Amino acid sequence: MKYTVVITSELPPVAMQMLAGEFDVISHSSEGVRTEEEMVTILAEADGAITLLSDPLTRRVLESNSNLRVVANYAVGYNNVDLDAARELGIAVTNTPGVLTEATADLTMALILAVTRRVAEGDAYVRRTGLVEWAPLAWLGSSLQGRQLGVIGMGRIGFATATRARAFGMSVVYSGPSARPESDRQHESRRVALDELFTTSDIVSVHCPLNEETRHLVDDAALGRTKASAFLINTSRGPIVDERALCDALENRRIAGAGLDVFENEPHVGERLRSFSNVVLLPHIGSATFETRSEMARIAASNVQAVLRGRPPFTPVG
Ligand code: 8YV
Repeated sequence: MKYTVVITSELPPVAMQMLAGEFDVISHSSEGVRTEEEMVTILAEADGAITLLSDPLTRRVLESNSNLRVVANYAVGYNNVDLDAARELGIAVTNTPGVLTEATADLTMALILAVTRRVAEGDAYVRRTGLVEWAPLAWLGSSLQGRQLGVIGMGRIGFATATRARAFGMSVVYSGPSARPESDRQHESRRVALDELFTTSDIVSVHCPLNEETRHLVDDAALGRTKASAFLINTSRGPIVDERALCDALENRRIAGAGLDVFENEPHVGERLRSFSNVVLLPHIGSATFETRSEMARIAASNVQAVLRGRPPFTPVG
């Protein structure tokens, strides 16, 4: 008897190539954010599943199918999965670490450059007007050379972002639960308290995972500390930033701008946030390169394969 693997969204072909034949694979098309009911329905036949960040894997969903043995989340983050419930039910949960580090750090750097040099605003202007009127005081932005990057969460992606920032002549501080001696050595960085990071950084970049401790970590108080010339970048998870507080800070010019790839209420991006010309908004594309997304598919499929073959998964979480 073949096991059934459910893939909740269309993925790069390598996943299907690896799984078809050995398993019965049911592949769904991308549906955006699913409800618990929809998840219960589409996982009904699954022994293993490859799921997205937008798929709620709550206790109720996980309990609904007693055959389910592995959930391979197609993401490095796994805040959509109830890990306690999965552990109790004996369901292995895996993620896709490592392979999206460089792509996400590249995109973080793209956002840093875009906000400090007004790239999106300039592009919109040229398209709208068909004019390039050069003037000494027009379109001025901020230099990165000699400025300080504050990394919230010096994990893999924070580290790779710091490496890029150093190449642009920036200094680096970071906050997080533990020191990163490799970063202190390689980036000449310093671990500081979060308050100091907000007060002294020119660019604050969020790279921590979303959990109950980090939800709204960037709030009114934090944004009240930043330099008025500072920029906030978020390529991690939207709810780490209190979007209402960010909009207030932008409106009151307590911060110079923001570059965001993730949002508090995905898939929706609030109208207020969209109204600021000094904010660059991207559609959650940190890992979106052909190479990275293929590697993510390969890792997710390998994890499903391993567990359904009776072996431990390669990249378990929880
Ligand atoms: C993905 C991500 O775009 O890996 C993550 O945690 O946020 C992104 O790589 C997304 O998770 C796709 O499901």
